[in-house]
Order: sequence, then structure tokens, then C-alpha cells
Amino acid sequence: MNDKLGLPVGTTLDRFIMRKQEDFPFATGELSQLLRDIALAAKIVNREINRAGLLDVTGAYGQQNVQGEDQQKLDVIANIRFIRALRNGGEVCTIISEEEDDAIQTGNTRGKYIVAIDPLDGSSNIDVNVSIGTIFSIYRRTSEQGCDGTMADCLQPGVNQVGAGYIIYGSSTMLVYTTGNGVNGFTYDPTLGEFFLSHPNICTPKTGKIYSINEGTYNFFPEGVKQYVQYCKDNEYSARYIGSLVGDFHRNLLKGGIYIYPSTSKVPKGKLRLMYECNALAFIVEQAGGKATNGSERIMELVPTELHQRCPLFIGSPEMVDKAEEFLKAEV
Ligand code: AHG
Ligand code: MN
Ligand code: MN
Ligand code: MN
Repeated sequence: MNDKLGLPVGTTLDRFIMRKQEDFPFATGELSQLLRDIALAAKIVNREINRAGLLDVTGAYGQQNVQGEDQQKLDVIANIRFIRALRNGGEVCTIISEEEDDAIQTGNTRGKYIVAIDPLDGSSNIDVNVSIGTIFSIYRRTSEQGCDGTMADCLQPGVNQVGAGYIIYGSSTMLVYTTGNGVNGFTYDPTLGEFFLSHPNICTPKTGKIYSINEGTYNFFPEGVKQYVQYCKDNEYSARYIGSLVGDFHRNLLKGGIYIYPSTSKVPKGKLRLMYECNALAFIVEQAGGKATNGSERIMELVPTELHQRCPLFIGSPEMVDKAEEFLKAEV
């Protein structure tokens, strides 16, 4: 039996990646291997998360990251796991991570790729058994192979991504990714230790009835965002906010909806990080027919100037993002 893509039901992630590579006869397979490395680290992190309450890995690590956030133990563990897998894989010359002050050189100077990663997203939800995630972006280096990746390699705009994805450790664990030719989702079967294709060719609804924003900071929202939130209420939309970007994004991607992390008078650039969070999800949502902006500009066209830079995010069903932008425009 074949699914909508003509692939046999029961397609594993490995087989799917292999099939895709066959479409590109001149490809060397390094990107495919990189995706497999990420999947391997995801399985390991998934195992740690599942047993978090039994192992001594919940709670704070006792240090702050460069963003000024208190790191959780699992933030640190996930960071180590992904870096180790990418270093061992050999395809990546440089990694940038939410949890690291500076770029990490893997020593694989012939590696063609740069990876930007949020190793554990939604870390405030670890200790309370709520969905968390991992987010990654893959770029091709622009410098010559044979030496470390440069800052210019790391600071590429989102339009240069050759791949992006996320893992959601939720009621089931899923890996969702794109290499610029649609979005596919894989569900993890822990009994077999394999991801299986479960959500082929994900397309997000044009519009929806879910809005996701931390309304606790309403008083500090720009006027246009306040008005859009009021519009959502007037139209009896459902408010859904987990506080794990991956979880909120994944739900809205499948059901239709909008996620907003706006600039506020307290945090003028918002909270989310362009390189580790916004770009990857922007690539995925666009590939699924959605939209991602900072309120006026396309996320993927923003030119980064620093590794840990933040930006406001309006992401989801295209008609909903357009509507929110209308309110923002009317404000000025
Ligand atoms: P991280 O755990 O990687 O630091 O990311 C946390 C982010 C994101 O997952 C979530 O949507 C957002 O922070 C929640 O922020 P607020 O608590 O300010 O709403
Ligand atoms: Mn964090
Ligand atoms: Mn995050
Ligand atoms: Mn994180």
C-alpha cells in the first residue's frame, strides 16, 4: 500500500531521506547524513526527556546562558548531545547554539555545513511534563572548505537555509523538516527506535481560529497587537499558549492559527532568537504555505548582525498574519 506521495506505508526517516537523495544524482549525501545525525541525537534526547523525572536531570543547572536565562539541566544535556552528534557526523564545520556564547568549531574543517540550533525549546516546561522541542537550521558554508567556518558563514539570512526542522517531544515525539521541497513529519516509535513518515507533505490551513500570544504582557504590547488580540476575541477565536514555541507552532501548523511574540515596551526586540528559532520555523511555515514576518518584513530576509539577536515573530496561517499586519500598519 502506498501513501499520497507514492511511498510505501511504514517509510522510515532513513529510507525517506535516501529516496529524496536519489532525486539529486549529483548530491554527495552529506546533507542526508547530517539529517540522520540530528535524528540520532533527537532519539537520545528523547530518551533523557522521557526519564527526566527518574534521573537527576530536572531543574536548574545553576548557570545563565548568554541570553541571561537560567539554564535548565536538560538545556545543557541537549546542547551537548546535539553538538556531539554533529561533531561525530563530520558534515558540519561550525555550530551556533542558543546555549553557547560563541560559535563552536567542530574541527571538521572540510564540513560543508553550518548548523544553528535551539537544543531545547520551552525549557520552562521540562519539569511539568509539557511538550518541549528542538529547533535547527542548516546553511551551506560560503567560505572555502579546509578551515574553520567564519562569522559570515554563521550570519546568513534565513533565505540561505538548505534545511530546517524541529523535534517535538510531546504526546508522541515527532521530527518535522524541510529541505525546501515541502514539509514532512515523522513520528517516533520508541519500541522500534525509528521515526516513521506519518505526516507527508504538510500544508497549513490558509486561516484558522487559534491565536497564541502571552497575554500576560498585554499592557506592554504595541497598539496594533492589542487591537489584533481584540479582533481575535471579537471573532471568538480560541486562545492557546503553551509557552513552548515548538508546541504552539506545531499545533497551529496542523490546525491553522497564528503565533505572535511581539516587541513590547519592556523587550523592544521581543524574546525569540532569529538564528535559533525564527528562521527555521519561518522556512518550514513558508514551505507549508504559511507566512512569517516580524510584523512588517519577511523573517527569512532579515540580515543578521549578531548570533544571538532577537526579533518579533508573527507566524502561521497566511491570512491571519496578513490581518495582524494590517492592524500594525494602521497604528502608524
Ligand atoms: P527557550 O526555552 O529555548 O529559551 O525558548 C523559550 C521561548 C519559547 O519556547 C516560548 O514560546 C517563549 O519562550 C515563551 O516566552 P514567555 O514565557 O515570555 O511567553
Ligand atoms: Mn532558553
Ligand atoms: Mn526556544
Ligand atoms: Mn532553548
